[in-house]
Amino acid sequence: MPNSRLPGFYRKSWQERLALLAERVRLTPEEMEALRLGGLNLESADRMIENVVGLYSLPLGIAVNFLVNGREVLVPMVVEEPSVVAGASFMARLAREGGGFIASTSASEMIGQVQILEVSDLPSARLALLEQRERILAEATAADPLLAQIGGGARDLEVRLVPASPAGPFLVVHLVIDTRDAMGANAVNGACEAIAPTLEEITGGRVLLRTLSNLADRRLARARCSIPSRALSFAGYSGDTVRDRIVEAYAFAAVDPYRAATHNKGILNGVDAVAIATGNDWRAVEAGAHAYAARSGRYTSLSSWGRDAKGNLVGTLEMPLAVATVGGFTRVHPLARLALKILDVQTARELAEVVVSVGLAQNLAALRALATEGIQRGHMTLHARQIALAAGASGDQVERVAAQLVREQAIRLDRAQVILKEFGAARG
Ligand code: MEV
Repeated sequence: MPNSRLPGFYRKSWQERLALLAERVRLTPEEMEALRLGGLNLESADRMIENVVGLYSLPLGIAVNFLVNGREVLVPMVVEEPSVVAGASFMARLAREGGGFIASTSASEMIGQVQILEVSDLPSARLALLEQRERILAEATAADPLLAQIGGGARDLEVRLVPASPAGPFLVVHLVIDTRDAMGANAVNGACEAIAPTLEEITGGRVLLRTLSNLADRRLARARCSIPSRALSFAGYSGDTVRDRIVEAYAFAAVDPYRAATHNKGILNGVDAVAIATGNDWRAVEAGAHAYAARSGRYTSLSSWGRDAKGNLVGTLEMPLAVATVGGFTRVHPLARLALKILDVQTARELAEVVVSVGLAQNLAALRALATEGIQRGHMTLHARQIALAAGASGDQVERVAAQLVREQAIRLDRAQVILKEFGAARG
């Protein structure tokens, strides 16, 4: 198991990082080439969606230092926002001081919904459906023999009454399906469609919608970490101060939806980046996360932060995570396959355990920065680098121009151009 501690990784050139990664995870020359080129070619893209005219690339970075359930993990992240990969890596390093992340998952169960209208008596139709539970589950399982072969299939049936709606009363059947290592949208949609005629026959109603719910609250991933307060001290802030401020910052998200939305967005910065890297449907993950955050009727934080009896900072995160290691895009995009190889995960549940840990680390990175020096400082350095590049700096000029812009607190293109000219003149 390769150690995920790669000190100084961020200071290396991308070529050096790629070489180091290749050695650690035994990349083939084809895989290295795929990383250099972005993985996808136009021919395969053209088969994926409609009206294709090109490709669109994003950076793929590796978050280091992750220890999840005692396992060293290198985490591929695809994201355009500066500070995300660095933040996750740094917080993973702090979490190691307390043993890393402890993560777990519930079963890989997805919910399919079937809407049944024009039912004359909702309570008796509900009981009639529950009486036929075994028959309905058997039909649903039979709809996907391949899934059944690998141990998946229908597990449960719930019937909900909606006595009043803009379209009048109706019934909702929840079909719970264990989708194993697949995300399961196709399996669930197929099963819902397959049982629809039986549901109509039993209830005498009319089936309308038959589809997956993204509120995957039977497919939860959970992570926790405990960080000794001494590990949190930096730049003149004591560890206890940083810990207490993080808890206070979390309290804001716990009670206020305006703050909770941003707090959860910070979590999703990490979660989405790994979901995208592994070819997963991050819109489904986002939808599930936000719906779960609002499950009490009031939108709140997905994570919690507090202090334990020993004074450690303790964090938890629980959220639906319908991520897959098989099926769909995970196997189509060469870099998604490669991301799974780098992560060295075999099952969807293992993947979800890493993803939720990254979400917690990312949340901590944001809270720590916000509750101390603010997030602008770190952003400014990265922003200055981008301005230096835009002004035409190359090689070691980039760092020098960026540093000068930050020193002057004038991170502007016109100033970068002047500084670059001055450097050129000094050299000439
Ligand atoms: C920025 O992408 C994410 C943060 O706004 C998250 C937060 O405020 O907790 C920094």
